Amino acid sequence: MFYSFLLTEKVTVQRFYFTMITLLKNPSQIVTVNGNGKNYKRGKEMNDISVITNHSLLIEEDRIKDIVKNSLLPTIKFDNEIDLKDKIVLPGLVECHTHTAYAGSRAEEFKLKLQGINYEEIAKRGGGITNTMTAVRQSSFDELIKIISPRIEYFISQGITSLEIKSGYGLSFYDEIKLLQVIKELDKKFAIDIIPTFLGAHTFPPEYKNDNQRYIELLTDELIPYIAEHNLAVFCDVFCETTAFSAKQTEHIFKIANYNGLKLKLHTEQFNSIGGLEVALKMNAISADHLEVLNDAQIGLFRNSNTTAVLLPGVSFFLNYNYAPARKLINGDAVVALATDYNPGSSHIANFQLIMSLAAIKMNMTIEEIITAVTLNAANALGISDSIGSIEIGKKADFAVFDATDYSDIVYNIGKNLNVLTIKNGKVIYEKK
Ligand code: NIG
Ligand code: FE
Repeated sequence: MFYSFLLTEKVTVQRFYFTMITLLKNPSQIVTVNGNGKNYKRGKEMNDISVITNHSLLIEEDRIKDIVKNSLLPTIKFDNEIDLKDKIVLPGLVECHTHTAYAGSRAEEFKLKLQGINYEEIAKRGGGITNTMTAVRQSSFDELIKIISPRIEYFISQGITSLEIKSGYGLSFYDEIKLLQVIKELDKKFAIDIIPTFLGAHTFPPEYKNDNQRYIELLTDELIPYIAEHNLAVFCDVFCETTAFSAKQTEHIFKIANYNGLKLKLHTEQFNSIGGLEVALKMNAISADHLEVLNDAQIGLFRNSNTTAVLLPGVSFFLNYNYAPARKLINGDAVVALATDYNPGSSHIANFQLIMSLAAIKMNMTIEEIITAVTLNAANALGISDSIGSIEIGKKADFAVFDATDYSDIVYNIGKNLNVLTIKNGKVIYEKK
């Protein structure tokens, strides 16, 4: 008894006086994406990614302690070092829009698509989201954890340290809660931050096909209050589209979500413009995602808005249709982020580097804009950019380390994973063998 008491005291004292300091030594470049006092970059600012050379990084516990000149290293005290010669360091990548929590396969639909039957037509025939819903409903909690875990490992191997995952394939009280609990469990299981979004309003499930209003009541009267009370989601998302929810229904769901303390995100202007964007901007949604069919007047609305435009070029590539007007949005001073939209039906692409290269080649974004869009601005689309998304003193020690001597290699090596080290909260959580 006596000895164990002493031991506890000692541990406490040690923790108090000594913190672990790690040196990330001598990378070719530190791409800081410094926000210059702001937690996002808008328009032209996206091109400024503040690259530093001849410096090293000091980490104290889970935070960035300092960025020091290499010539001063002999005077610096640290506990351990990681040699980053010929490597470059970026802020840990932030993936701000995924549907990673799915089961089953939609390869059969992919074949139909290759025959010229489009995504909306497949949805109208009862395929699409409801197809995945059936697979999710048939999967247990444990089965889902098993299916989804390797997908998260793949994201981590690419340098992603914060990952948003939506529900939206359960579409019943039981199965939506099951998916959100799976996402919560995955957040506990993995060292990265997994940010949960409730997307019960993804489409109307078959059992409510003739009573859409009743499904909306299930969302607003039962699911949203339960999810908020049990802290199962940070965001509420809606798919505003002719095959899913109208602008009016979106606004109603948003009001209830807001009232219950959930922040808002919207899938909008993907195939049709039916008023969703205007609702998102009016209600200060944290992000408006997709935007493939945005018109010029709508682009102008982003100039004075804090809503981040999340663009998903993987969808345009996968479905082979138009890309969101990234150039016009950035020239119009919008805050733009990029994401995979990883899902089984419209973007079966979890390769973040491929998404970056598509943004360069198909949307004409500069490499600097792309880096901003997958770090600071993506963190802004998740409301976490005060502590994540750039390499600045005091921010979280989250890094992606690439085997490259210049950051342009990341976008130039199309679809190739150059990440060799993922560091989350100051700890190495992935190292390429
Ligand atoms: O972001 N547009 C709606 N939801 C997803 C697709 C989901 C699916 O087809 O399974 C998207 O594209
Ligand atoms: Fe999506």
